[in-house]
Order: sequence, then structure tokens, then C-alpha cells
Amino acid sequence: MDKSILITGGAGFIGSHTVRQFVTRYPGYRIVNLDKLTYAGNLENLTDIEDAPNYHFVRGDIYDAAFLKELFEQYRFDGVIHLAAESHVDRSISDPNEFIKTNVMGTANLLNVARSHWEGNFEGKLFYHISTDEVYGSLEEGGYFTEDTPYDPRSPYSASKASSDHLVRAYYNTYQLPMVISNCSNNYGPNQFPEKLIPLFINNIKNNRALPVYGKGENVRDWLYVEDHAQAIDLIYHQGRIGHTYNIGGDNEWRNIDLIRKLCEIMDRKLGRKQGESAQLISFVKDRAGHDLRYAIDCSKLKDELGWRQQVTFSQGLEKTVDWYLENQEWLNHVLTGEYEEYYRRQYVER
Ligand code: NAD
Ligand code: DAU
Repeated sequence: MDKSILITGGAGFIGSHTVRQFVTRYPGYRIVNLDKLTYAGNLENLTDIEDAPNYHFVRGDIYDAAFLKELFEQYRFDGVIHLAAESHVDRSISDPNEFIKTNVMGTANLLNVARSHWEGNFEGKLFYHISTDEVYGSLEEGGYFTEDTPYDPRSPYSASKASSDHLVRAYYNTYQLPMVISNCSNNYGPNQFPEKLIPLFINNIKNNRALPVYGKGENVRDWLYVEDHAQAIDLIYHQGRIGHTYNIGGDNEWRNIDLIRKLCEIMDRKLGRKQGESAQLISFVKDRAGHDLRYAIDCSKLKDELGWRQQVTFSQGLEKTVDWYLENQEWLNHVLTGEYEEYYRRQYVER
């Protein structure tokens, strides 16, 4: 084996695309996917590569330090790509503690085990921490987040991610643990759990369910197709400068309401409905608490230094995403469980 790499959270949305990228592109690497399989983790995301000889799945919790130590002893990892996290802002507002356990303590456990396992020989080792643009806070109409923007997290989710980013940098400064961090904007694409805006709304449109737009729908997000993120992760893992941070974004800002109207148009066309029919489902509801107004990423460092370019335009990506959800009703059926309906009721009916 050329390298042994631990990918955490590989059964989730971005993690599964990242696992696929590494397993298929690097047959000489051993890729170990460690995932707790929370409500967001789903091995059906990886059925196409589950029998690949260089792929191994291990179910486990990054909160469990003793388990991590055994895992490192068994697989002798050269690298860690750390995606495992609680990732949904709304859930962090109703229940912050899981976010602190997994995102803060879980990351600390991984840093500790990597440090002690690699101690004395950091040559060829790398801890790659996957983070979010939300750590930078909220923008007004102008300006962009750069790698030097001061941190200003405003939700329990973003505060837990900011905390983990600080820990990763502290381990580099204090112990010289080789690390790299990337902060990415909103991802979309196949396999995203239908609690996030785009898959939730695709599913609701299909089922003629109301589309709950928070506030006036004026918040702005920058959207990137998930496979483009996975390719950026590959590039940064192999060519990113140790100790550095790279922003990743789509140069693709949309007000929520404009994006939702575009999605409704696509769905009308795909479902053979009259244009304008799905948009009638739009329903303005109580705003998210502390709702960040705008995220916008300057990712020129990644482009200039490493030559990264996104491959998928937003129109192409949305078409591919809608088609995937329409063609994968079985995947949806398996995630739209009683637990999901319970979450939906708490989040959208009782709030
Ligand atoms: P996701 O919620 O789809 O997947 C998270 C995965 O982590 C799941 O498979 C889950 O089972 C696993 N997990 C959760 N707790 C765990 C634990 N204690 N131990 C082991 N595994 C655990 O998340 P995602 O949207 O794919 O995000 C992945 C990473 O990328 C996160 O770190 C997130 O902060 C970051 N990120 C996400 C976006 C986005 O738009 N979704 C953008 C930028 C950065
Ligand atoms: O910016 C990167 C972040 O993007 C990631 O770090 C997070 O893990 C990821 O969940 C995402 O966070 P957002 O809060 O931006 O994504 P979400 O899909 O939850 O919401 C997108 C926008 O849509 C946001 O302004 C809130 C709004 N929204 C969301 C939902 C779920 C609604 O108006 N109605 C909804 O029902």
C-alpha cells in the first residue's frame, strides 16, 4: 500500500463523494472510512465501491478515544481527512450538545491520537481538517471571506466548527502536527440528507408539501457542486502547503428565494407540471434564530496556488441533482423514516 488514509464521516454527504474520489483514483491507497452512522450516515451512498479491495468501512465514534487508539494501531494511518461532524445548523440550535461532543471533543480525540501515533516522525503525515465558511460569520451585501477574515461564528454549529479549526491550528503551532484546513461554502448534489435546503425542497415539491422559506428568503449562500468539493479536497490533500488554510467556493451567490424559484421551474419541467405550479407551494415561515445573512467566499488562493477550477456549472449541477433525487426514490424511502418525520414535525410544525 502506498498510503493508509483514514477518512472520517465517509458515509455522509460530502464524505461519501470524497471516499469515492480517493478509492477510485488511488487504487494503491488503503482508504478506511470511519463513521458512526448517525441519522446522516448512510452506507447506501457507497454501494458502488463497497467491494473495492482498497476500501474498508469501520463503524465507530470519534468521541471514543480508546477506540481511535486501537484503530490507529491496526491501520497505521499516514493521513487523516476529517469530515465527521454534526452538520445541520437548525439541529445545532435545538440541541447544541451533540455538536460540541462530536465537532469539538471528537476532533480533539483525533488530534491526540494522530499526535501520539506519529510522534517523532511527522514525515509524510498529514491531518486534513474539513471546515466551513460559516466560521467567518455573516457578511452584509459587499465583501468576501478570505483566509485572513477573523473568525466570528454565530450558531452553535459554526462555533463548534470554529473551535475545532482553532484546535487543529493550535496542534500545528504547539506540536508541529502537520495539518491543512479548508473552509468551503454550501455544497449540493446527490446523497445530501433531505434536511438541507435543496434536497428538502426537491422532496417537498415532489410530494406537494409546503416549501418553508425562512424569513423573507433574502439570505444569500454560495453554492458548490459536491464533486467539485471532493476534487478540491484531493488536490489540497496532495499539494496543499502544510500549516495553511484554503477557502473553497463556487463563485455562485444566490438569494434563497431566487434559488427556490429556479428549483421550482426545474421541477415543473421534470414533473410535467404547468410552469408556476410548484412555486405556489412557497410558504414564508418564522426565520431561523440568528440567521446569517450572507456567505461569500474568495477562493483565489486555491485557484492561483493549486490551479483548482470547478467543473460543474450551477445549471448543470441542479439538473443532475434533481434527476438523482427523482431516480433514487428507494434511497429517499430509506431515509424518510419515522425519525425524519419526528424531526420535521419539531422543526416545521411546532416551531
Ligand atoms: P453529513 O451530516 O452529511 O455527514 C456527517 C457524517 O459524519 C455522517 O456520515 C455521520 O454519521 C458522521 N458522524 C457524525 N458524528 C460522528 C461521530 N461522532 N463519529 C463518527 N462519525 C460521525 O455532513 P456533510 O454535509 O457531508 O459535511 C461533512 C463535513 O463537511 C462536516 O465537517 C461539515 O462541517 C463540512 N462542511 C459541510 C458543508 C455543506 O454544505 N454540507 C460545507 C462546508 C463544510
Ligand atoms: O456554508 C456552509 C454550510 O452550509 C455548511 O457548513 C453546513 O454544514 C450546511 O448545512 C450549510 O449550512 P446552511 O445553514 O447555509 O444550509 P441549509 O441548507 O440549512 O440552509 C441554506 C439556506 O436556506 C439558509 O439561509 C437557511 C435557508 N433555509 C433552510 C432550510 C432547511 C430555509 O429557508 N428553509 C429551510 O427549511
